Amino acid sequence: MKNRKFLTICIIILCSYILLISCERDKKTIVDPEETPDTLSVPFLASDFSVAETCQGCHPQHYDEWSGSMHAYSVKDPSWLAIREVGQGQYINALDGACSPCHSPIGLRSGDITWGPFEIDDLDPVSQEGIGCDACHTITAITRLSNGGFELAPSDVKHGTIKDPIPNSFHESKYNDLYASSEYCGSCHDFVTDDGLPLEVVFQEWRASGFALTGKTCNDCHMETYIGPAFVGGPDRTLHRHDFIGADVAMIDFPNKPEQLVKVTAMLQNALSMTVTGPNSAQFGQTYSFDVNITNDKTGHNVPSGVPFNRQMWLSIIVRNSNDEIVFSSGQLDANDDLMDRYSGFLERDTFLFNAQATMLKADGSDASVWDVDSLVNPSIKPGETKVVNYSFATPEFAGAVGEELTIEVTLRFRSFAPYLFRELGLDSLLPIPIIDMNSTTHSISITL
Ligand code: HEC
Ligand code: HEC
Ligand code: HEC
Ligand code: HEC
Ligand code: HEC
Repeated sequence: MKNRKFLTICIIILCSYILLISCERDKKTIVDPEETPDTLSVPFLASDFSVAETCQGCHPQHYDEWSGSMHAYSVKDPSWLAIREVGQGQYINALDGACSPCHSPIGLRSGDITWGPFEIDDLDPVSQEGIGCDACHTITAITRLSNGGFELAPSDVKHGTIKDPIPNSFHESKYNDLYASSEYCGSCHDFVTDDGLPLEVVFQEWRASGFALTGKTCNDCHMETYIGPAFVGGPDRTLHRHDFIGADVAMIDFPNKPEQLVKVTAMLQNALSMTVTGPNSAQFGQTYSFDVNITNDKTGHNVPSGVPFNRQMWLSIIVRNSNDEIVFSSGQLDANDDLMDRYSGFLERDTFLFNAQATMLKADGSDASVWDVDSLVNPSIKPGETKVVNYSFATPEFAGAVGEELTIEVTLRFRSFAPYLFRELGLDSLLPIPIIDMNSTTHSISITL
């Protein structure tokens, strides 16, 4: 009995030691916010900031658009909460600060979100908001073009791009051209591990593209302009949309959800061009080969971008004969709604599958998470790049097929998360994830002798 107790204690000590070593090894890939200059150096109180409702009365249009945006979703986001919790489990709650600099800058910098699990309802309302009005409009400087490297200065001064703001009783207004720049967004939108691995780098992608040269900024595409009053009763001005439409849609009950899906669909359908090239005829019983060419000619960064390891963008191919029978297909879903790659729960594999989803890998080649990643395989399509995907299949073998028409239906499809990821995270109840068809086209071939 005594021996067994001793053995148990030994095992516990050994396990803790192994856990400690592995944490020590893996931990270095997390950017520790304590080491990130100027993000944590100025502690605030959550009460130094105003919640969005304070702004709503005078800025109802901005409030309405923001309330349905992914910025308002960033702490309530079930995928963020779930992945953060997995990390917490592996890092004995030490991961915490690494997930909040951008998703809840006020929560982190006020110490409201600390090194432990939290219940959303226990947080200060301004931390629950994620990226609210004040988290953005009290930014005074960019200190690093990644990892939440911006200075927050809570005060009565709200910065923006109106040069001659009309005074009001609640706050001072200050013109700041930083707010029209891509760098402003880049400080939050790029996530580089402390080993220097560019993991989520929409800003770096933009900077390397022709869009940076022509001066087309993030806001030109993501904050559409319109004419209206900047506050209730104000004069008409050129204003900027605050719904920040991208590729993602809310997966929980959320304001303006149907409108968001419509706008995201339009955004994705205006991101890329696609053509099919191949001969117009094929001999019966021979191999027919064709290319699908996907060109990123409209987007200021890679597609997909942001969190490219979560996003799925794939080609669905269906070839039918004159009797509507399927002769060849790729990019179809299994009974779990997953693509038929190595993550499918079924045995069938889709050898022709084209899926632009990135994969995070550990040094030994196994799958990694954000906190232990060593390399990223990222097949996303760069601005200006054309991805050529080749397919080939055997045409019908019997002579009776001569004269028949085959129709190739090609669809480029997108969803913001793979269903298997949601199932792994215990988010099954939120499935299915909406699939958006970005581009589609058909190509016909006739079967000859
Ligand atoms: C009492 C009404 C009122 C409230 C409350 C209010 N604002 Fe304003 N705000 C104004 C007015 C008036 C302007 C000037 C608009 C104009 O000139 O057309 C303005 C302008 C702005 C600008 C543009 C500044 C510039 O120079 O570009 C920002 C940004 C802003 N407000 C943010 C906020 C935020 C954030 C809140 C909540 C914390 C808020 N406002 C609350 C009335 C208000
Ligand atoms: C020329 C227009 C254009 C510019 C410039 C542009 N974007 Fe985009 N952005 C798009 C389009 C179209 C999509 C949808 C396709 C996609 O997901 O990449 C998108 C998607 C996104 C997404 C979601 C990506 C995903 O796949 O999950 C983010 C985040 C984003 N943009 C941020 C930015 C930031 C930050 C900048 C500036 C550094 C920027 N964008 C510049 C057009 C643009
Ligand atoms: C993700 C950051 C972000 C958030 C969150 C945000 N804004 Fe803005 N806002 C901006 C930027 C950037 C501009 C200037 C855009 C430009 O000039 O290209 C702006 C402009 C404005 C303006 C000036 C008028 C206009 O439309 O250009 C007002 C007023 C304003 N915001 C109010 C608000 C209010 C109120 C909220 C919360 C309900 C809010 N903003 C949330 C980034 C943000
Ligand atoms: C304080 C950090 C922060 C700043 C500043 C910021 N963003 Fe974001 N943004 C985020 C986070 C975090 C998300 C994702 C939240 C989520 O889905 O959980 C996001 C989401 C988005 C999305 C939606 C992406 C999708 O997949 O649909 C777009 C578009 C976007 N931001 C554009 C911008 C632009 C343009 C700017 C500059 C005006 C900007 N953001 C400034 C942190 C920030
Ligand atoms: C450098 C700032 C930053 C840090 C640090 C950060 N994120 Fe994000 N995160 C973002 C931005 C920006 C987006 C939006 C990208 C997009 O939508 O394409 C995002 C998107 C996400 C998404 C996808 C949300 C959706 O609804 O599709 C998840 C999940 C997520 N982050 C989890 C985490 C976790 C977990 C951590 C900590 C390990 C973390 N993030 C740390 C900036 C950050």
